[in-house]
Amino acid sequence: MEFVESMKTGHPAIDKDHKEIFDTLDEVSRAIAKNDRKRFCSLFEDFLVIANRHFKREEAILRKCGFPRYEQHAAYHSFLFDRALAVRDRCVSSADNASMEQCFKEFSEFLVDDVVRGDLDFKSYLSALSGR
Ligand SMILES: [Fe+2]
Ligand SMILES: [Fe+2]
Repeated sequence: MEFVESMKTGHPAIDKDHKEIFDTLDEVSRAIAKNDRKRFCSLFEDFLVIANRHFKREEAILRKCGFPRYEQHAAYHSFLFDRALAVRDRCVSSADNASMEQCFKEFSEFLVDDVVRGDLDFKSYLSALSGR
């Protein structure tokens, strides 16, 4: 999976975070390819930290610019984060390569939910604000 132009929101800080999320996911897939379970688990912890920090930052930006669906978007983030925690708990307790791949798949879907789908909701709002 790659971070492509169409996924950009046009806000530099948000796009930087999204790219970082993609890069971390890339690292996770490399750990799986090497069957490096320890690294896989520690990357998941990193991922949670990065995702949480991103959600907070994105929410602050949306609140500041008066995005009308701010409340819904913040609630959506906490729903996604709870789901990520559940996936993490399950993944850390599973041991083989097949389950690592399954976990990776679920984590990717979680990510795509915010970056590719959820954040489209404010993309046009932000670009209208900045006059593009
Ligand atoms: Fe986002
Ligand atoms: Fe978001």
